Amino acid sequence: MDIRGTDTPLLDWSGDAIALGLFEEETTLTGELSQLDEKTGGTLAELIEETEFEGKSGSSAVTRIGGGSAIRKLILIGLGKKDELSLDSLRLGAAAVARIGKKEKVKSLGISFPVVENEATSTAAMAEGMILSLHQDNRFKSEPEDKPLKLETVDILGVGAQSEAVEQAQTITSGVILARELVAAPANSVNPVTFAETAQTLATEYGLDIEILEQDECEKRGMGAFLGVAKASDLPPKFIHLTYKPTATPKRKLAIVGKSLTFDSGGLNLKGSGSGIETMKMDMGGGAATLGAAQAIAQLKPDVEVHFVCAATENMISGRAMHPGDILTASNGKTIEVNNTDAEGRLTLADALVFAEQLEVDAIVDLATLTGACLVALGNDISGLWSTDETLKEELKTASETAGEKFWVMPMEDKYFEGLKSPIADMKNTGPRAGGSITAALFLKQFIKETPWVHLDIAGPVWADKENGVNNAGATGFPVRTLVNWVLA
Ligand code: BES
Ligand code: MN
Ligand code: ZN
Repeated sequence: MDIRGTDTPLLDWSGDAIALGLFEEETTLTGELSQLDEKTGGTLAELIEETEFEGKSGSSAVTRIGGGSAIRKLILIGLGKKDELSLDSLRLGAAAVARIGKKEKVKSLGISFPVVENEATSTAAMAEGMILSLHQDNRFKSEPEDKPLKLETVDILGVGAQSEAVEQAQTITSGVILARELVAAPANSVNPVTFAETAQTLATEYGLDIEILEQDECEKRGMGAFLGVAKASDLPPKFIHLTYKPTATPKRKLAIVGKSLTFDSGGLNLKGSGSGIETMKMDMGGGAATLGAAQAIAQLKPDVEVHFVCAATENMISGRAMHPGDILTASNGKTIEVNNTDAEGRLTLADALVFAEQLEVDAIVDLATLTGACLVALGNDISGLWSTDETLKEELKTASETAGEKFWVMPMEDKYFEGLKSPIADMKNTGPRAGGSITAALFLKQFIKETPWVHLDIAGPVWADKENGVNNAGATGFPVRTLVNWVLA
């Protein structure tokens, strides 16, 4: 699919289908649109009338244009209220256009949407929406159910050439798709070893530095928390550290740390039936987005040094498994009583965060499918965000708004750390049920000394149960776009 921006006026454009974005309460045809209506023999007005099209956000309508018109089909997309228009309205609208275009077997498509911010950002948002909504993962089907895509060219009208914006959108979405494919792949395909191989391939292909710490090296560094989780697996743990270094002196140094459990059985506190254990291949969603962001950043080449850290393992059961009640010592010397082996993500992250801080970066962001509690609190679409630094928090909020990915700032309620007090060690790994995502964040905080830090609990948004916005059912690739925007800002 070839996406390009163009200055061709709406009335001069020809192709299989034209998609028009209309605002709520503004469906009376004036100017260019009334001319287009004339040109199409009144089809546009008729479609609005017959479908009672009101321009509401999320609404759409489609019809054939008869009478031998050069354009065969007309697609209407509701963009919602004009004063609420955002880049995400364009992204979601374009995603809807692409889905309709696919269903209607359109080959050449034109999109005429308003511009938000500027032509480049608008073009990029539309391109992202289309690419992501059309992505289909057929790797595990012997025969794809899906009809092959006919869509060959998309012209985004009224924005100029915009080849750079389109290219940037392609780079970022390829990172999102890498993350989706890693998350969607089952645990007998993506495991700690193959996950590390993917990181190695990225390094080779895009010129990133890579260091993979094997088990003995992790032992030397005292990563007892990470290794405690890894103990039961028949596969070796892989502590992955990728680095992107700009050619110029870096403006700043950042670290992205992703929870990378390629499977979470719960360990000896085994997840019961009905717990969603069969979905726990997604428990490396943080690491997947970290690699997705690395792939995009390596190509976009910002003047920022970025470290990507993934402590990859799987949480399994075996005679070698850590026991509930075991005491582990993390690489910063702190001791942890493991009162629940299913709170394993925070154990792996403890050593990963200590490692990241030793890199002397200016900021650390970790992302993790950390708690069911966060999913209960914020639902499927919204990630929790905890922070020790106002500026960093604002940076991430801004990055997420342009990306169209949702975060909600949650309280770092230090008092709740009482719930993690252990009679025998420095802390327990699991607090009471109430406020479970907050105590998880407070646990992680024990492994950061002073570097500005943001923790993202992405347990909800890494996976979509059904088609939703730019996502089809399944892995979403959340929050690659936010991470890339943050680094690029
Ligand atoms: N990976 C899970 C969290 C999770 C749950 C992610 C549902 C996605 C969907 C995590 O390791 C876990 O098991 N958390 C426990 C923590 C509890 C034992 C304190 C949970 O949330 O139940
Ligand atoms: Mn768990
Ligand atoms: Zn987990």
